[in-house]
Amino acid sequence: MCNLTRLRSMALDSSGKQPEQQQQQQPPPRASTEAGLKLRKTPNEELEPDNYEDLQLDFSPVLFSSLERYLPEQVLNSTRNDKARFMRNLLLRYSPETERIRIQRHREYREKILSSYQRLHVEIYSLDPASFFAPSFLNALSQKSEQGLRSIMSQPSAGIFTFEMLNPRFCEMLLAEVEHMEKWVYDSRTTIMRPNTLNKFGVVLDDFGFESMLKKLVDDFISPISQVLFPEVCGTALDSHHGFIVEYGKDRDTELGFHVDDSEVSLNVCLGKIFSGGDVYFRGVRCDNHVNSEINDKEMYDYSHVPGQAILHRGRHRHGARATVSGHRVNLILWCRSSSFREMKNYQKDFSGWCGECRRVKTDRQKLSIEATKQALIKIGAEKASKPSAD
Ligand SMILES: [Fe+2]
Ligand SMILES: [Zn+2]
Repeated sequence: MCNLTRLRSMALDSSGKQPEQQQQQQPPPRASTEAGLKLRKTPNEELEPDNYEDLQLDFSPVLFSSLERYLPEQVLNSTRNDKARFMRNLLLRYSPETERIRIQRHREYREKILSSYQRLHVEIYSLDPASFFAPSFLNALSQKSEQGLRSIMSQPSAGIFTFEMLNPRFCEMLLAEVEHMEKWVYDSRTTIMRPNTLNKFGVVLDDFGFESMLKKLVDDFISPISQVLFPEVCGTALDSHHGFIVEYGKDRDTELGFHVDDSEVSLNVCLGKIFSGGDVYFRGVRCDNHVNSEINDKEMYDYSHVPGQAILHRGRHRHGARATVSGHRVNLILWCRSSSFREMKNYQKDFSGWCGECRRVKTDRQKLSIEATKQALIKIGAEKASKPSAD
């Protein structure tokens, strides 16, 4: 058995951000606004809220859509931008001071990058399936059936799916763009936020202008695929993401400790280049309560990266990366989150059906219960047999 004490329970965003749903699912405050307007006490269930997904916002667009049901008439009749501004100001007023400062700083940080970073390959900032994806991936998805999707998937171990995903030309362009970003960071002496608490190198793609492209990638591809492969998480859609690049090799990160991701589903695609080592080792899916529990032999699986090939797994699937011993390895990582899954999880009292340890404990309890019933029946039978017959 491996010692799991090294597992870090949760890797945070570059900005140390807490999971978004904690903000999203708070009941909207019954509050006075700057103009003295008050939010409704109860939501307007007949209202069809606007979609805020294309706007640059400090909070999840889903939160704006749900908060809109509480807006007073006067605000409801204004434009979408005015409604968004009104709700943003309100949310900022009611978020804790530290969170407000973090949001403001992150916004300024992104604005600074967007105003001074010159893009190398402008064409990769908007999703073009025909040039981004491998033909097999496009073909499988065009069939719009579970069978078509599964035809390109390998599942080498429970809950781990691998498939050919990215076109080599797109990988080359993204690699060049990442090098261009790193050069800009070095030349401009900009201090950048790294992708998470474990990686010291790499860039957050969302901070460099890739947010809408990655959102489309999640909405149109990863979310529908995940609904088929991980129905326990994605009965509803994945509605937020954190997209970043990690780099391993000489003068970069070497390995990555044993951990779980802050995601419902993680996509990991190797972009290149030439390298040896860097295998990902997987050790079973766990809920929060069992994240450090022991490994079952059947849960052990090691994966070797192949450029262009993707691996899709639950964020709670415990994993780590072995040392990249030579060359330079660059991977695109997309953490996909579901606010509704996180909300539902808060109400879950019973064992989760997807955690390996929950399943084991549940099976053990069932066995004990069956055994106890059996013993009780045997005892009753023996007592009956020992009583003298009434005849
Ligand atoms: Fe990870
Ligand atoms: Zn569990």
